[in-house]
Amino acid sequence: MRIGVLTGGGDCPGLNAVIRAVVKTAAHQYHDEVVGVRDGFSGLIRNKTHPLDLDRVSGILPRGGTILGSSNRDNPFKFAEYVGGKMVQQDVSNVVVENYRKNNLDCLIVIGGDGTLDIAHRFTEKGLKVLGIPKTIDNDLFATDVTFGYDTAITTVMEALDKIHTTAESHHRVMVVEVMGRDAGWIAVAAGLAGGAHIILIPEIPFDVEKIAQKIYERKARGKHFTVVVAAEGAVPAGGDRTIKRLVEGSSETVRLGGVGEMVAQEIERITHLETRCTVLGHLQRGGSPSAFDRILATRYGAAAVFHAHEGHFDHMVALRTPKIVAIPMTEALHQMKRVEVTGSHVVTARRVGISFGD
Ligand code: F6P
Repeated sequence: MRIGVLTGGGDCPGLNAVIRAVVKTAAHQYHDEVVGVRDGFSGLIRNKTHPLDLDRVSGILPRGGTILGSSNRDNPFKFAEYVGGKMVQQDVSNVVVENYRKNNLDCLIVIGGDGTLDIAHRFTEKGLKVLGIPKTIDNDLFATDVTFGYDTAITTVMEALDKIHTTAESHHRVMVVEVMGRDAGWIAVAAGLAGGAHIILIPEIPFDVEKIAQKIYERKARGKHFTVVVAAEGAVPAGGDRTIKRLVEGSSETVRLGGVGEMVAQEIERITHLETRCTVLGHLQRGGSPSAFDRILATRYGAAAVFHAHEGHFDHMVALRTPKIVAIPMTEALHQMKRVEVTGSHVVTARRVGISFGD
């Protein structure tokens, strides 16, 4: 076979491990050829491709990012470009089909989140053979137990919380740490547990600043003059809205969140008169060398995708159903979000050990 591979949407640790596993499995098991597509679907719009052989993937297992590049504003069905200083959107999906054929591809492995995989699925209707591999640090993709990148991201946040703790304690301050997690609070709740946060704010549980202040007072009464709050970027005040930072035209999800941490910090200071600071971890969470867990999961996904390509399981996505890697129809996986269950183990455990969700 001649297999195309692309990485789309926001990057995350482990993408290179998947690319490497695809190339190695293709070479060692099937004597296939692999073609790397540059910058997500843009590479098939502009025909930017190159061969990917064993030499090209040598040494990339521990590297963060993606050697193929990525893009989160490359939806070929709604491709946004500046023409004469004006943003115009057009359907260039037929160009993608043409370039898929020009490259003599037998199938295309698409590594991406919900938006990228949805685009991949739409190309099935145009006759392309696609297979999806789920990725996102947010861990909010339905139909897979876990996405790669998440484990590394929560380790990064945990390490940041360890550092924030010492300065919070020295200065008797409240420290708010804003983390990623648009629709689901997986990063906040898991890293909050691992990093010993005292208050965790997640999109699934609307918060009340008075309740946050109450928790801070309780700690003060016990002689604890500092508090660490972790806020997912998608956390919402009860009866309020998400804090939107910007809009990205041409992205499958145009809204970019940000600012809830600063807002919460200001409210805490207004109510408690305690010095409060906010740290936004931002894209730091998407970088770094993948953890052992993410390297293994990414390798399992990559190797399984090539296997399923040879089985003819197109329009499918590989998924972890512990302990197995399975292939499930793309339609089963898309448009459903895996959110933190408010009565699930993470939240229940956090409450048991005295963590407040600001509710
Ligand atoms: O990958 C998902 C995500 O990390 C979200 O948590 C975050 O809102 C978004 O990507 C940020 O995207 P961008 O790179 O466009 O700022």
